[in-house]
Amino acid sequence: MRTENGQIIHLADYRQTDFVLERVDLTFELDPTETKVEARLIFHRREGVDTAAPLVLDGDELVMTGLLFDQMEIDAARYDATPDSLTIRDLPASEPFEITITTMINPEANTQLMGLYRSNGVYCTQCEAEGFRRITYFPDRPDVLAVYTVNIIADKASCPLLLSNGNFLGGAGYGEGKHFAAWFDPHPKPSYLFALVAGDLGVVEDAFTTMSGREVTLKIYVEHGKEARAAYAMDALKRSMKWDEEVFGREYDLDIFMIVAVSDFNMGAMENKGLNVFNDKYVLADPETATDQDYANIEAIIAHEYFHNWTGNRVTCRDWFQLCLKEGLTVYRDHEFSADQRSRPVKRIAEVRHLKSEQFPEDAGPLAHPVRPTKYREINNFYTTTVYEKGSEVTRMIATIVGKDGFKKGMDLYFERHDGDAATIEDFVKCFEDANGVDLAQFSLWYHQAGTPLVSVSCAYDHAKGEFTLSLEQMIPPTPGQSVKEPMHIPLRFGLLLEDGSEAKAAAVSGADITGDVLHLKERRQTVTFSGIPSRPVLVLNRSFSAPVNLHFEQAPADLAHIARHDSDLFSRWQALNDLALPSLVEAASKARAGETVETSAMLADTLIAIAGDESLEPAFRAQALALPSESDIARELGSNNDPDAIRTGREAVLAFIANRGAEVFATLFERHRTQGAFTPDAANAGHRALRNAALSYLAVSDGTPARAAEAFASADNMTDLSAALTVLAHRFPAATETAEALETFRARFADNALVIDKWFAIQSTIPGDGALARVQALMTSPHFTKSNPNRVRALVGTFAFSNPTGFNRADGAGYRFLAEQILEIDPKNPQLAARILTSMRSWRALEAVRSDHARNALRTIAAGEKLSSDVSDIVERMLK
Ligand code: PHE
Ligand code: ZN
Repeated sequence: MRTENGQIIHLADYRQTDFVLERVDLTFELDPTETKVEARLIFHRREGVDTAAPLVLDGDELVMTGLLFDQMEIDAARYDATPDSLTIRDLPASEPFEITITTMINPEANTQLMGLYRSNGVYCTQCEAEGFRRITYFPDRPDVLAVYTVNIIADKASCPLLLSNGNFLGGAGYGEGKHFAAWFDPHPKPSYLFALVAGDLGVVEDAFTTMSGREVTLKIYVEHGKEARAAYAMDALKRSMKWDEEVFGREYDLDIFMIVAVSDFNMGAMENKGLNVFNDKYVLADPETATDQDYANIEAIIAHEYFHNWTGNRVTCRDWFQLCLKEGLTVYRDHEFSADQRSRPVKRIAEVRHLKSEQFPEDAGPLAHPVRPTKYREINNFYTTTVYEKGSEVTRMIATIVGKDGFKKGMDLYFERHDGDAATIEDFVKCFEDANGVDLAQFSLWYHQAGTPLVSVSCAYDHAKGEFTLSLEQMIPPTPGQSVKEPMHIPLRFGLLLEDGSEAKAAAVSGADITGDVLHLKERRQTVTFSGIPSRPVLVLNRSFSAPVNLHFEQAPADLAHIARHDSDLFSRWQALNDLALPSLVEAASKARAGETVETSAMLADTLIAIAGDESLEPAFRAQALALPSESDIARELGSNNDPDAIRTGREAVLAFIANRGAEVFATLFERHRTQGAFTPDAANAGHRALRNAALSYLAVSDGTPARAAEAFASADNMTDLSAALTVLAHRFPAATETAEALETFRARFADNALVIDKWFAIQSTIPGDGALARVQALMTSPHFTKSNPNRVRALVGTFAFSNPTGFNRADGAGYRFLAEQILEIDPKNPQLAARILTSMRSWRALEAVRSDHARNALRTIAAGEKLSSDVSDIVERMLK
């Protein structure tokens, strides 16, 4: 596709373009199969560039039907046009010149969903990262910034709406049955932020007054009839705009901000200047059809895309190696926003769960790469959880190191220095150094070294001396292409917790820099001594998960229980519960594998149950506490030679023990935390639902019958409760008639709402055990399923491969063979989607021998596929290396 198969792009090869692009004028004559695009580009040769150097523009599957130089026909000898590039020679030495290119494209046939395509009759574009070159020949790279004018001509009846970036200039009728509209975006932008939307959509309109008093029109476009379901997104948008003003001092900079929801989209959403395009899943919500999790996702993604207006658009990336410059930073910003809108510790727990279950495995497997990579084959494959989530954690660590005010100063300097620029990670880091007078050279290794650091911890208390000694050792595991690592600067928040729950304040500390409650680990090995400690403290390390590391710390269960019940940091209380549970679950897995009976520690169960029933704690936190580490958490802890069946069997035994021991508490919670009155999606109310549904999932185990879940299903008046009850029924009682009935009721009620049917697919594709594959295959023949919609494919095939450890990793390898078939079938139509789903096999080497052999064979089958896209071949080759 974009890059020749096998061609690797290196950061070290970066150089500026030879020609400077001054202006872009685009005219689209939209047609479902024959859209004509005229691009008028004004360039001049950059000073000092060889006057013989040709202009080379990128293309991808393009058909050129016209080329003019300064409005004149151009001699055929002066250019070469292939589908992938356009080269023009004999160009002026220094004066500006104009190139006019006409291309013909077929939006209807564009199944990759990159460039200009049609989704449910709506024309829309997706240009990040390299989609613009599928529209016209262009210097399609993020460091080429220009001002765009866009004219759109289309059929008036089917496309009453004609949208592009920037401000609306005007429109009028245009010949028979057609009309046109013109848009002008005054902010120079790279091509990946270009957008065009045309079609017939409904709209929700609102307004926002910025801090300097400018009125901004806000519009969210959705399919007709779905307007009411965009209200929450609009509310989240206004809150995001206000928050960015208050917290970062950033104001919106156009007269209008638009969001368009489309049903066919490869990713979550896209931050095109002034015209964000969203996967409709992250716009549409009402209590009947959206869960609390959906609401939280919508709020976060609306904020994320909006925040990109400054971190991504006003300051963009010099090249795609710098992707984390906009993504890591913007994820950090949306995390902070959600934390301010909701419960900060509960939000942090959810982030860390996600980081550990998605990013840590990536960093520990064949796809591991630095937050700022130095080479890639297919840039589409670098929109990873490492770039996004670890990138956000690295930004958070900068904030931890320089402090809240120091972070604000650094950000202000970043905007001051780089507004209107295409910047690098080095530029970004330098702003925090210069604004705060600190040296972040060692810290920058976080951008360059892949792998999750392992910090080994031991400690001792000397009562006679009143001294507490802490020994720390860091190790960064080898990752592909990086066998030797340097020690990193790891900022660890900590506390020394005394018996009564208060905190010890040391009289003196030696052996480490400590600022406030942050210990800066910088050496490979460090011993830190705290003096003046009156009694043996319990160490609480990495509070609020200040550094994304694995801790190896054999902390006594009694100490963990103490933290879980008394620490001032709710996140650490959750972490301690996790640390208490994980060894039990690991042991349970080994016992189950050896065919022995699993015994569960009463202390673990009692600590969990006590926290669950503690009405002084917020319900959302208690729900998180009740969720035991997942099967994949246990697999990660085990590290290698994994048997997913044994992991599940062991975990089930622990879960049953807790369920039986806490049955009374869970029954009380289930009754007490019913939603009172009308549904509201706010975090506090969502917390009650989360706790009640967590209780229900334990009760289903102690009850041993589907009755309670069936009753919960029947009486649910919102999607959160309804889908939770259905999940319990399907996962706990897959063969019960109550389950079959509930599944069918659910399907029939939501048959015409594809986003809800996706939940129905996902719930069934995650039913544990060997039967899952046949169920998924049967669902693929359902009339609700279509391979051409990425959300459907992800809900059924993706969820099965990513989130059903026992079903997907069947010992006979049938799950892997199924995935290989699916990948080979999806790849020719939508390579990005195929490559993304294939990453579900990233931990295959950690499986026991029988399964890993099957997995390898399936990967080899894919690798041997004919005409693989560069997206899939890049992933499969790295996984097999
Ligand atoms: N830039 C988008 C975001 O993070 C993600 C995206 C990447 C969307 C590539 C489409 C294509 O907000
Ligand atoms: Zn983003």
